[in-house]
Amino acid sequence: MKTVVITGSARGFGYSMIEEFYKKDFNVVLCDINEEELNKSCSKLKNMYGKGKVLSYKMDVTSEDEVKSTISKIIQEVKTIDIWINNAGVNQPMKAIWELDSKVIDRLIDIDLKGTVTCSKNIMPIMLKQKSGAIYNVEGYGSNDATMLGLSIYGTCKRAITYFTEALAKESYECGNYVNIGKITPGIMITNFTTTSLGDGEKIELSEKTKNIYNILGDKPEVIAKFMVKKIINNNKNNVKFTWLTSIRAMGRFIKALFGIKNYYF
Ligand SMILES: NC(=O)c1ccc[n+]([C@@H]2O[C@H](COP(=O)([O-])OP(=O)(O)OC[C@H]3O[C@@H](n4cnc5c(N)ncnc54)[C@H](O)[C@@H]3O)[C@@H](O)[C@H]2O)c1
Repeated sequence: MKTVVITGSARGFGYSMIEEFYKKDFNVVLCDINEEELNKSCSKLKNMYGKGKVLSYKMDVTSEDEVKSTISKIIQEVKTIDIWINNAGVNQPMKAIWELDSKVIDRLIDIDLKGTVTCSKNIMPIMLKQKSGAIYNVEGYGSNDATMLGLSIYGTCKRAITYFTEALAKESYECGNYVNIGKITPGIMITNFTTTSLGDGEKIELSEKTKNIYNILGDKPEVIAKFMVKKIINNNKNNVKFTWLTSIRAMGRFIKALFGIKNYYF
């Protein structure tokens, strides 16, 4: 039985992917900083049908000690780690760069960029030793070079995640190509992230224009998780990118919206 580990999987997109993998009989490992949400999600999973194990660990991706000890604990429970998804991420307060507290900037970079680097650095040697495995990193606003007032530090991190993932894919290729590396581009998901900064921090006031865009282009995380998990399970290549909100899909949504067909999340 294969094992998938997802960071930031107590809720939102991470949890939705966990559910999909569990339904497909994977051992699923939830890792998250939020213990309360972690416990709730584990109880929910244990009431669902799945043949795999459900393991959960309180783990902060910004702490290398916690990442290392969590990996050791997982290895003790299951033989191999087949898929690792770096999904933990937080939104930023909707402020210009110079209005952000330096501690907030540090925290954003630590979670949204360094978390993925730390986890990849520590899981890669395990997968190389196994001579198999796959690591996927979640992209976001900024990955495609877009810029916007109030999303600059988050965007800087996600732009760097894109480069980092491509660099990791290249290094994996150079070192035997045993580990497949990929980017997951989920588009816009209506989750806690949409309206809250820094995980469980201050609320984000969305403008009417943003609400309208989210109503047109946004999806519930479970819809995108279903699409991504299928892609991940079927993938056997290195350096891949799976995109939900393609320009064709976005164009279709805008055309439908002209006829009043859209969601009403906000
Ligand atoms: N929601 C969107 O529109 C959107 C769009 C593109 C990309 N993303 C990305 O998708 C990923 C998941 O976001 P989501 O929308 O499900 O948000 P979410 O807030 O619902 O889930 C994020 C999870 O990460 C956890 N987390 C936060 N800091 C952590 C840390 N230091 N260590 C471990 N876990 C931590 C949170 O507790 C939470 O469970 C993020 O990387 C985000 O940047 C989101």
